[in-house]
Amino acid sequence: MSPPPLLAVRRLEYAYPGGIVALHGLDLTIERGRKLAILGPNGSGKTTLLLHLNGTLRPGGGEILLDGRAVAYDRRVLDQWRRRVGLVLQDPEDQLFAATVGQDVSFGPLNLGLSEAEARQRVGEALTALDIASLADRATHNLSFGQKKRAAIAGILAMRPEILVLDEPTAGLDPQGVNQLLEALQQLHEAGTTLVFSTHDVELAYGWADQVAVFHDGTVLAQGDPDAVLGDRALLRQAHLQPPLLLELAQLLEAGQGEPGWPQPRSREALLARLRERLRDRSA
Ligand SMILES: Nc1ncnc2c1ncn2[C@@H]1O[C@H](COP(=O)(O)OP(=O)(O)OP(=O)(O)O)[C@@H](O)[C@H]1O
Ligand SMILES: [Mg+2]
Repeated sequence: MSPPPLLAVRRLEYAYPGGIVALHGLDLTIERGRKLAILGPNGSGKTTLLLHLNGTLRPGGGEILLDGRAVAYDRRVLDQWRRRVGLVLQDPEDQLFAATVGQDVSFGPLNLGLSEAEARQRVGEALTALDIASLADRATHNLSFGQKKRAAIAGILAMRPEILVLDEPTAGLDPQGVNQLLEALQQLHEAGTTLVFSTHDVELAYGWADQVAVFHDGTVLAQGDPDAVLGDRALLRQAHLQPPLLLELAQLLEAGQGEPGWPQPRSREALLARLRERLRDRSA
């Protein structure tokens, strides 16, 4: 029998006070070692779902399974659960609370019971990964938005969770910040960390994730391989999403050549290389 998924959400229901239904019969499976991207329009329930993944919100119905076992909400279980699942909030203002960046990022490791020296090492690594080592002594409250975002991500990275959940981690970062973040996440992925992140960037989801889930009105319309899900035009229309330009260009290119040519290029570089190859073939 195959092992149960690391984390699974079954028929989840959640309504905010006032009766606003945010999640309705939502199913999502998070397999160990995945890079799962969650896509969906504003208000489709992405943040609400992510807040359930470390027990911040408690479902009104359905269940959450960690290693195949339904989670509980007493202090002891919640503490262990949150050591395993680190959640980076959408708004860094909701996450940062200490006076300086260094203090903020060291809070998690110290809270895990690590020594001062170990915590210092973790903080150094996390700040370097997000390229904010020079901000260690700066006051968190007067950083720029992108700097706050980097600091908030560093704080969770420093705890080295088994599952790292990030709510729109690239929103507000400059292009270099996005690349540095993706590099840091790729290293975590290669070291075995399971990654789940929400985004409005279909190109990022297509090019970087190895699985995508499309949210709409509090449910998951589809979860699966990026080529299959993001190649389904009817599904994307329903979720008010545009197909990735890379996928469209690659499909046009292959159609012009009259051959299937899988796998599709999944990065700018790969697509440009394919184009150059084709143009060279034509002129030869
Ligand atoms: N604190 C709250 N109180 C009441 N309703 C809320 C609250 N937070 C979210 N909602 C509602 O729940 C639904 C889902 O919101 P959620 O924030 O999960 O969407 P989202 O997919 O993360 O959107 P975005 O892309 O804008 O971040 C929306 O209808 C929203 O208005
Ligand atoms: Mg959100």
